[in-house]
Amino acid sequence: MQTIVLATQKGGSGKSTLAISLALAAIRAGHAVRLIEADSQGTVSNWRRRRRYAQPIVEPVYAARELEQRLQSLDREGVTVAIVDTAGGVSAATNSAIRYADFCLIPTRPSIADIEATAATLRVVRAWQKPFAYVLNQTPIRAAARLAGAENALSDEAALDIIDIVASPFIVMRNDHQDALSAGLAVSEYAPNGKSAEEIRGLWQWIAARLNDATAADEEFAEAFAETPEILPAMAALAPIENDSALFLRAPARS
Ligand SMILES: Nc1ncnc2c1ncn2[C@@H]1O[C@H](COP(=O)(O)OP(=O)(O)OP(=O)(O)O)[C@@H](O)[C@H]1O
Ligand SMILES: [Mg+2]
Repeated sequence: MQTIVLATQKGGSGKSTLAISLALAAIRAGHAVRLIEADSQGTVSNWRRRRRYAQPIVEPVYAARELEQRLQSLDREGVTVAIVDTAGGVSAATNSAIRYADFCLIPTRPSIADIEATAATLRVVRAWQKPFAYVLNQTPIRAAARLAGAENALSDEAALDIIDIVASPFIVMRNDHQDALSAGLAVSEYAPNGKSAEEIRGLWQWIAARLNDATAADEEFAEAFAETPEILPAMAALAPIENDSALFLRAPARS
């Protein structure tokens, strides 16, 4: 079984939305998926109640110790992918989830403040030496192309690090993510031919490839990341939102 944990202390960055989307992508890829809700806020359980289909099973597990036990026992029940949605903030349950993760995803909006706010989560991920990647979520559509440009503009060394730690593609901010959530659907079900569904399929493929890599070279992989000190500055170089806001805030041209 592979355990994928979505974690970041920043609220509203898209942990629950992406957990749901990725669960459906994993089911489509043929996995037996269990969606574990480690956040008593209940976003995923509430979504599950609105949903008319049997899959995925959502299991609320809020206590750290119980979570550890579940993640160690799910394997025996035939689950091949467990996806864990964690609460914002720093908690014992999130720490446990990361400890038993095979891969950690850190969703963040691509702004400097949001990226800086991931530092505490990153410290926990590194302490457990886990493979991880950032998912740039709620990316303004105009920023997506510039982000790709910024990635190319980074120095060779920083760009290499970034390719390893920023999942591809970036997930653009679109209403269909919110509409799907309120309809009890994943975005791939709500608008199967839409751009968001396409991005989520791409994201799952990127993660699936990483999971294979991580299984093949687990320790080497984790150690290499644990020794990468420049992640946050390099990530910050990818943050374009301030420029976007600047465009909106700019005073109208004088006539
Ligand atoms: N790519 C996106 N485009 C548009 N809306 C999005 C996107 N991703 C998430 N959202 C919306 O942003 C809001 C916050 O997302 P979500 O609840 O998944 O964040 P979270 O990290 O789980 O928050 P919390 O820390 O409170 O648990 C939701 O309304 C969700 O539908
Ligand atoms: Mg949530």
